[in-house]
Amino acid sequence: MASHKRIPMIAGNWKMHLTSKEAADLAAAMKKGLDPDLKHEVLLAPSFTNLHAVKAAIAGSRILLASQDVAWEEKGAFTGAVSPAQIIDAGCTHALIGHSERRKIFLETDEVVNKKMKAAIKAGIVPVLCIGETLEERESQKTYRVLETQLTGAFAGITPAEANRVVIAYEPVWAIGTGKTATPDQAQDAHVFVRKQMERIYGKDYAEAVRILYGGSVKADNIDELMAQGDIDGALVGGESLKADKFLRVIHFQAVLSR
Ligand code: 13P
Repeated sequence: MASHKRIPMIAGNWKMHLTSKEAADLAAAMKKGLDPDLKHEVLLAPSFTNLHAVKAAIAGSRILLASQDVAWEEKGAFTGAVSPAQIIDAGCTHALIGHSERRKIFLETDEVVNKKMKAAIKAGIVPVLCIGETLEERESQKTYRVLETQLTGAFAGITPAEANRVVIAYEPVWAIGTGKTATPDQAQDAHVFVRKQMERIYGKDYAEAVRILYGGSVKADNIDELMAQGDIDGALVGGESLKADKFLRVIHFQAVLSR
């Protein structure tokens, strides 16, 4: 059963899409279409260059802003990187960390992910930690081992108090941008495993409270069945979050469950 204590979060990862005008327009459409009584947390993660425009567009709404990445250093000669203080200055409360595209394309290791987690937490940013296995890993029965390694690595040296607000996003790499969503059962299984790992690391209370989002081809027409799973506390949405009407439907999911 889903816990009533866990507030659902629906996050849109806009990846490397949209000009600042397009991003502001989409954000404004989100603000306009949001049910004022909705209690979920809604998070938008535009490109760095679009943060200010989106911040202005969502002003006065309860939509939250995230960066898609964050540097682990505070300042200095790190060409191309954006510091925690800079993303806070741009209006972010959250940062995606360790997205599979960063891991695969930009060669981020668990050690790098861990440094970014620590830097974000120190600055007061809530990390949305992304983890997930590749198709090859799933097919060779390594899913659990991979998730365990990623979680152990990401949280190394982080105290329970520091880890308090972290959100975890389980995104199987084979489901990202492929249209191949994990079945609700596959996702639920992985989420239960992730929660067990968090219990191993930080204890039962933490594990009960931590929110675990599912990501990977989440769509307007599959969100309801995903959110009906007891351990799926929200979604991290890529492609579908670029279409205002579809993403609004995802945000206003109708879980048949006791939420
Ligand atoms: P898609 O929803 O496009 O599969 O992307 C998922 C994702 O990577 C969100 O971070």
